[in-house]
Amino acid sequence: QKTFNIGLCGLGTVGTGVVKILQKHQNEIVHQIGYPIEVKKILVNNMDKKREGNIPLSLLTDKVEELVEHPDIDVIVEVMGGIEETYEVLEKAIQNKKHIVTANKDMMAIYGSSLLQFASENECDVRYEASVAGGIPIIRSLTDGLASDRIHKIMGIVNGTTNYILTKMIEQNRSFEDVLLEAQQLGYAEADPSSDIDGLDAARKVSLLSTLAFSMSVQLQDVDVRGIRDMSYDDLFYAEQLGYTMKLLGIASRDEGKIEMSVQPTLVPHHHPLASIKDEYNAVYVYGEAVGETMFYGPGAGQLPTATAVVSDLMDVVKNIRLGVTGKTSVQPQFETKLKHSSE
Ligand code: NAP
Ligand code: HSE
Repeated sequence: QKTFNIGLCGLGTVGTGVVKILQKHQNEIVHQIGYPIEVKKILVNNMDKKREGNIPLSLLTDKVEELVEHPDIDVIVEVMGGIEETYEVLEKAIQNKKHIVTANKDMMAIYGSSLLQFASENECDVRYEASVAGGIPIIRSLTDGLASDRIHKIMGIVNGTTNYILTKMIEQNRSFEDVLLEAQQLGYAEADPSSDIDGLDAARKVSLLSTLAFSMSVQLQDVDVRGIRDMSYDDLFYAEQLGYTMKLLGIASRDEGKIEMSVQPTLVPHHHPLASIKDEYNAVYVYGEAVGETMFYGPGAGQLPTATAVVSDLMDVVKNIRLGVTGKTSVQPQFETKLKHSSE
């Protein structure tokens, strides 16, 4: 019986979750795809760090070639973060005919289009469901479930850390710094949490969703970004008194072929469904011409929700390998990007 082998780049919050799900849900995986998935090698930074769970130390390495050049590894699962160097690692992996599953929105928001193109030329798959909204299958929903529709608007809470901070500050009257520290300890925040609190993480997700929803290859710098770094308890308190809850919203809309994208703290009326999204949960509202209003809700960050998306992507790739259709399933953006507020 064939076993599909993965090289896991990163054994932090998400990587550890991937190992746990592969260990606990192997029966379900074999039932769905017909073969087991095994972790062959794990790339880490610090070989001496104490690791959670029962992970054989013989799997760990700090040499990336041991994964990307390993003859028995079918898929590289990249959950280590980083942009330029990580993109180069994935390019090397593709040159060696490895398929890619990644949770890395920082890299995908900049190099996603090149990576997908290069992978397709090499008949490799790239999957990145976990890069947007953690455990919510929003990328699949746009590329599969809503693929026949013309999407006009996407709006939502796409950063778990900032939603956690805003929720706990107002509910528990705690300081911004105190709750941020807790979000870091819970594994929600990025390695550099300024990308969460300054809105960049959400902007990366908005640009990825816009590319898929509007079939335009949008640039990260086209997203107008404001974060929540300066938000005080008083700001949140007075908003509540006036009937609003403060949320960091990512918004992307298309009107007459032109798009507009932003991330900004927004006063959401108490009766609006987005006002009730708490803690690290995310919610994404999608309006399509034919389908009308849809809403996707679930945990937007954290170990097991994110790892679920990663392992489901992995299973998809294995299904494609078995069907012999790898590298044929990613759709490149079709239209030229036109911004609503451009100078032309
Ligand atoms: P993390 O806890 O900081 O873990 C990163 C892991 O990668 C660590 O095991 C680290 O090694 C390893 N690593 C980092 N740089 C490396 C390098 N240059 N060479 C070798 N190993 C390296 O990060 P995380 O929260 O799991 O996030 C991983 C990725 O998933 C990021 O792209 C993040 O944006 C994305 N993501 C995270 C979440 C979440 O909820 N946390 C959700 C969705 C997406 P050591 O263990 O030796 O330090
Ligand atoms: N730091 C990110 C967040 C992780 O808080 O949403 C999930 O992408």
